[in-house]
Amino acid sequence: MAKNIVVNCALPYANGPLHIGHIAGAYLSGDIFNRYQRMIGNKVLFISGSDEYGTPIAIQAEKEKIPPEKIVEKYHREHEDTMKSLDINFDYFGRTTDPEHSIFVEDFFRDLEKKGFLERRSMVSAYCPNEKRFLPDRYVQGTCPRCGFENARGDQCDECGRTNDPKDLINPRCSICGSPAEFRETDHIFFLAGKLESQIKEWLEEKKEWRENVRLFSLNMIQNGLLDRAITRDMDWGVPAPMEGMEGKRIYVWFEALLGYLSFAKKYSKEQGDEKLWKEMYSEGNTYYFLGKDNIFFHAILLPAMHMASGKYPLPMRVNANEYLRFNGQKFSKSRGIGYSVDDILKIVDKDSLRYYLSSILPESSDSDFTLKDMKDRVNSELNGKYGNLLNRVISFTENKNIVPEYGQGNTLEEEILRYLQSFIDQYRESMDRLEFRKALSLWLEAVKEVNSFINMSKPWDMVKNGDERVSVNMWYSLKAIEYLTVSLYPFVPSGAERAWNSIHGSSIPEEPFEHLKENCKFAIKNTGPIFRKIEIEEDEENELNLVVGKIVMAENHPNADTLLHLKVDLGSKIIDLVAGIRKYYPLDSLEGKNIIVVENLKHSKIRGIESQGMLLAAQDSNGAHLLTSDERQGTPVSIGKYSYRGEGKVTIDDLKKYDLKVDSEGLYPTAVIGRERLYLMAGGKKVYVDARVDPRSQIR
Ligand code: 2FM
Ligand code: ZN
Repeated sequence: MAKNIVVNCALPYANGPLHIGHIAGAYLSGDIFNRYQRMIGNKVLFISGSDEYGTPIAIQAEKEKIPPEKIVEKYHREHEDTMKSLDINFDYFGRTTDPEHSIFVEDFFRDLEKKGFLERRSMVSAYCPNEKRFLPDRYVQGTCPRCGFENARGDQCDECGRTNDPKDLINPRCSICGSPAEFRETDHIFFLAGKLESQIKEWLEEKKEWRENVRLFSLNMIQNGLLDRAITRDMDWGVPAPMEGMEGKRIYVWFEALLGYLSFAKKYSKEQGDEKLWKEMYSEGNTYYFLGKDNIFFHAILLPAMHMASGKYPLPMRVNANEYLRFNGQKFSKSRGIGYSVDDILKIVDKDSLRYYLSSILPESSDSDFTLKDMKDRVNSELNGKYGNLLNRVISFTENKNIVPEYGQGNTLEEEILRYLQSFIDQYRESMDRLEFRKALSLWLEAVKEVNSFINMSKPWDMVKNGDERVSVNMWYSLKAIEYLTVSLYPFVPSGAERAWNSIHGSSIPEEPFEHLKENCKFAIKNTGPIFRKIEIEEDEENELNLVVGKIVMAENHPNADTLLHLKVDLGSKIIDLVAGIRKYYPLDSLEGKNIIVVENLKHSKIRGIESQGMLLAAQDSNGAHLLTSDERQGTPVSIGKYSYRGEGKVTIDDLKKYDLKVDSEGLYPTAVIGRERLYLMAGGKKVYVDARVDPRSQIR
């Protein structure tokens, strides 16, 4: 019996491009599952969309002095295109700024209120008198009460890793403008999740088929209780809280975005002219959620609690979270410019190769590492080398020798390969049903190798030479074998599998391909040339300069030199001494608190008695020296374009020269050369800049 299945993928924030870490974290797995479910005959509703409200977007908009609508509009379109460019085929990709979403959320909110799950409470919250706004925890900065780190965030200290309460920070300040933070009373609506604590625990206990990373992590999180949570915020970018006396407050972005799955499904149904569709699709309770591990709490605790409270919608049947994809061993991060955006990587490889490689390293049970070299090796030797070649060999052979493949009684070898492939499909489907996609793909690769050896052992070329007419039967078995491989590849590499199918059938993959495998079908060879492309990339260039944003915490004249300064600079993880020749250009009192860019791994040198543990970068033009700077916090790595620091060990001034550091032709942004490309210096996804406009193409030293 066909089932109704809902597949939801976490809604990406519409504030920056998607990188391949996001894709491997949630969207690729979701799409693989979506396609597989359809292939086995189930009806699927596949939903995602842009998460467009929330503080980071509001603050970004203020910084860039543009309305938040502009930002989310841009990235929503981009997200949509990115998904398409990777064959991730949502039925509907919605937006949380859609007025119909707001209505849905408001109704849900009122319903919870009616059911006694909401309560108005007063609380103390950080407030910036300068910005005249309440500050979310992560926008409060101060000294960590536990380790003394001076730039701990209100939610967490990046130095010692402990979670903070902003009230406990010493000298708390607003991280947007730097003014001292105050604490003021404000009223908020609380979701009384505490009432559901034992219910949630029991429910999670029973989810034995879930991955441990989700189930145990979640149980662990509520071990000491499930807290009531404030679900409103004092801000103006969000869904208004529909409650009297709460005008001006907005619904907490997570609470609201989690309802996007339903509101988008509803909207999709309406657009399809079948208003009941979404309820039907949800009615059997087969709901799957795909997300990255940083979203586990929200999907495995908050969302089910919301649905328990409302009693209107089924609880998630499966919450499936991947671990992180790392890039050359480092965490992917759009804010730190580490790794590739989807758009950038698609300039280097095609979508089939990318999907294949990402599928083969999906971080399902632990973090996994993406490297260009590994991608090239695997795609070239596996997808292209083994499967692609197999296909080309069989097709060209059949064509060149004018063989008409024909079903007939197989010999031992032929019967054996079919039996093997049937049991392969059984195992493959078991893995797919268990959401072990990486395992399924490795079974696939094994099967490709088996089919290759089947052909090598059958030696059809000898059959042709000896005038053995069984060659047409033998070719039928080879093509049938390719059919098995093609169908099972489809969820991972849909476009490539379609091309492959077309080359043996002259048509597209049928609706229920697993059924087709059992048929003694006819083949219609259509040689369209190689199905896959080899990846041709040059060995990855490297960036050996460890550039970091630093904050000057002390500046004094060098005791033994007229032109030099002695600075102490906070690099986030440590404070270093620097000697710099900018004394003529910057008054001492203008330097403290300033962000600069430091070459952290330059060989130390003693300059007139003070050891300089690095070098700051400044552009030199006819007016003097101008510091490079960034608004990102100290410790933020600075990459050269997409090249984040990968070397180890120290560099010399001569090494530095190779990068030919120069300001661009506008006189605003520093650049450097890697390989043959001139690239911008990037920190936190934004260009590093010179603190004044300088002559175009000024040297940086
Ligand atoms: O982590 C994220 O990108 C969040 N925007 C995910 C939200 S999923 C949900 F709430 F719908
Ligand atoms: Zn700390």
